[in-house]
Amino acid sequence: MEKYVIKGGKALEGEVTIAGAKNAALGILAAAVLTDEECIIENVPYVDDTKVLLRAIENIGAKVKYIDTHTVSICGGTIHNDEDLCVDDEYIRKIRASYYLLGALLGKFNYAQVALPGGCDIGLRPIDQHIKGFKALGATVDIENGGKIIAKAENLIGNHVYLDVVTVGATINIMMAAVLAEGKTTIENAAKEPHIVDVANFLNSMGANIKGAGTDVIRIRGVQKLKGTEYSIIPDQIEAGTFMTMAVATKGNILIKNVIPKHLEAITSKLNEIGARVIEYDDSVRVMADGRMKSTQIKTLPYPGFPTDMQPQMATTLALSQGTSVITESIFENRFRYVNELARMGAKIKVEGNSAVITGVDGYKGANLVAPDLRAGAALVIAGLAAEGFSTVEDIKYILRGYEDFDGKIRALGGDIEVVDSDKELQKFKLRVG
Ligand code: EPZ
Repeated sequence: MEKYVIKGGKALEGEVTIAGAKNAALGILAAAVLTDEECIIENVPYVDDTKVLLRAIENIGAKVKYIDTHTVSICGGTIHNDEDLCVDDEYIRKIRASYYLLGALLGKFNYAQVALPGGCDIGLRPIDQHIKGFKALGATVDIENGGKIIAKAENLIGNHVYLDVVTVGATINIMMAAVLAEGKTTIENAAKEPHIVDVANFLNSMGANIKGAGTDVIRIRGVQKLKGTEYSIIPDQIEAGTFMTMAVATKGNILIKNVIPKHLEAITSKLNEIGARVIEYDDSVRVMADGRMKSTQIKTLPYPGFPTDMQPQMATTLALSQGTSVITESIFENRFRYVNELARMGAKIKVEGNSAVITGVDGYKGANLVAPDLRAGAALVIAGLAAEGFSTVEDIKYILRGYEDFDGKIRALGGDIEVVDSDKELQKFKLRVG
């Protein structure tokens, strides 16, 4: 089984270019099926989650073509709209974003059948708010045995939806179901993440009428038809944040290119607060750190608060800081599974309920680690890069879901990391890096 092997202890220096935002791309790729015309989407991150979703879109009959590694053409006009229209295969059951095809196909055909989402094990991941929104638009929603969700409607009528929870997925899914509905839909208590705005901008470029994305009230006026478009996805704020914390944890100096600094504000502010230096340019940030950082308190919140997807990476960095820090995870129920792995490297973290009390130590020792989920996996790589000696990280399939060429980008920054698939390759790496 492939795993990363890392020799830590080096300050990472140089430049890294950030890919398109995975969590915007997944909504946008699904939304492309809402028109029968061709959509050309640029800056698509070449990661497993987008590959799996594109395969599912092709499997229901759409024409999908990679124009280049990061540019995809999707034409939804050939999707077979009949009773066996069903999105279900072993791959799609592994990714949560499969549920975006529920909203898109319901919005287009008044009918959708999709296998229940999987996703990382960071919490229950219910979809009650998605279902609440679909029902508000006049759909019936049934969950079949075997884990399929079937949503159908005579026709979709705009309505007012108040989300009980600020949820990215439900906000995007209801937006997609409403764009071709009759009349006006209002989504209250909507999520405001940059990727919500990106999906709304994409839909508007197809001729939708969506206002207020990025605020907590989104107003949608249904239109008759959507047309093809060309669109480029925003940079990934979480990949950028991951490399920002990597620079701090390894006491390095990295220029992170192709970012929107405004989307990184919560991360920038916290890194400056603990003693790192973040310099903002138009479309890049430089992150530097030397010596030990200070402690701080963090509570993960919906955007523009500190992002939950940056919680493991920040905890890994704070566990090397001076003093005691506290991180409270307010979004997911089970997002501290990496703590036991870090403890094996010498970290001192105590999880109490949905908070982690972190007592800073002056260094990590390399260890053999297992990635529990996507962002925790990235955090363990950061820990390995900061540690003294060798580390391995298994179950890197989680990391490959959301990071494109992660090890290649780290090597370009001077990091000693390789993907190995055998002990022989592991030994060769150890001999080579010494
Ligand atoms: C999206 O997940 C992202 N995934 C997650 O990123 C991210 O952590 C999350 O938003 C929050 O920002 C994708 O975009 C594919 P939510 P999503 O619905 O949409 C509860 C990563 O690392 N909730 O905003 O599933 C839910 O349990 C991944 O890239 C309900 O109660 O998250 C959670 O506590 C991990 N009912 C909270 O809302 C619902 O119907 C936020 O979930 C839906 C959600």
